[in-house]
Amino acid sequence: MDQKFEKISKVNGTLKLPGDKSISHRALLFAGMANGTSLILNLSEADDVNSTKNSLEQLGVIFHENQNSLFVDGLGFKGFKKPEKELNAGNSGTTARLLTGILSAQNFDSILTGDSSLSSRPMKRVITPLIQMGANIKAKDDEFLPIEILPVNGLKNIEYTLPVASAQVKSAVLLAGLFEKEKTFVIEKKPSRDHTERMLKLEIEMKDSLRYVSSSKLNYPTAGEFFIPGDISTAAYFIVLTLLSKDSELIIENVSLNPTRLGFVNHLKKMGGDIKIEIKSESKGEPFGSLNVKSSDLENKEINKEAVPGLIDEIPVLSIAGIFADGDFELRGASELRVKETDRIQTFIFNLENTGLGIEKFEDGYKLSGSIKSFSKPKTFNSFGDHRMAMTFAVLSSLMSSGGIVESFECASVSNPRFLEQLKSISD
Ligand code: S3P
Repeated sequence: MDQKFEKISKVNGTLKLPGDKSISHRALLFAGMANGTSLILNLSEADDVNSTKNSLEQLGVIFHENQNSLFVDGLGFKGFKKPEKELNAGNSGTTARLLTGILSAQNFDSILTGDSSLSSRPMKRVITPLIQMGANIKAKDDEFLPIEILPVNGLKNIEYTLPVASAQVKSAVLLAGLFEKEKTFVIEKKPSRDHTERMLKLEIEMKDSLRYVSSSKLNYPTAGEFFIPGDISTAAYFIVLTLLSKDSELIIENVSLNPTRLGFVNHLKKMGGDIKIEIKSESKGEPFGSLNVKSSDLENKEINKEAVPGLIDEIPVLSIAGIFADGDFELRGASELRVKETDRIQTFIFNLENTGLGIEKFEDGYKLSGSIKSFSKPKTFNSFGDHRMAMTFAVLSSLMSSGGIVESFECASVSNPRFLEQLKSISD
């Protein structure tokens, strides 16, 4: 579906967003694994999260929905049943990688599949440590979905140093570790999002600036109540739009304020963005509160390579802020973008060719200079079926005097099915 966006004159209003996608996946998995009934409030409505929910249903977990509440009848330790057919992770890397960790420890076999984008994304990064733990996994070309996970009679605990900063890999190993008596350690050189650690209250130790996270049977999830704070990555599009629009102010309530997810907020503040953060409370170790954002004049600042894992999903929309800010926008150390839902370096640059911007492309990033020329009619952008690209170019289109058209915009539902109504509710 081609979606047209007109230039908005200003942003004004308050948003309460559906639950964070990363936290929602984990709440569903942990509630499904726990013994007894859990209650999940404000679950994300993202297609990705539905992929996790549907897979859990196939593993025997029962869900009851009542308005905004989801009750989950968890199956307890090793209570999952052999699925009758393949588990389809759709477009969701988090579903595929976290489930691979959990399924590796089961005494039945299962097959995981995904859509064409997910089937071209690397899986060896989770398979390698899980095989070290004794898992029996067969992947297409040793790397891709579909993967078959064969039954095992217990795993071994390991100490695994992450070769790439990835919360999905970290979580897959730690979740497999939940089925064993001895502790499994994951060692991180660069911090990545820490929802798994917080929600399972895992032990963390710092040694020689390395972060040691461990899990064992003692951390196996228990049933309870999960309130999922609003999705900060969804908020990112509206934050950038507000900062770059004149006379604008936006309040975002009950949004996740997990420090490992605030990299882009901190960077925008460094650029001169008027963003106030107020922590209100916490749920399952996850802080949340409100953000107050006002129009600002921005100036580009260096993005420290160490900071990249903490803002990886927001880089495309942060780059839009960079285009409108004073000075050149330079991104380096972000080669992980090449293995997201699309190669986000390539798809981003492709869409900005012939816009008047100076573009220098690197293996691990890009440099953007100058400004976007005026177009006499709406400029067309292609999302390539990548939700974050679709919403990034929706923001750019809404800032251009000609407006713009985003092709295949329906993919935005992978993380935010309500993007269009939210945008309408805050724009004049
Ligand atoms: C996620 C981790 C990140 C992120 C993804 C969600 C998670 O992926 O990009 O959108 O929920 O653990 P990587 O682990 O590949 O960095």
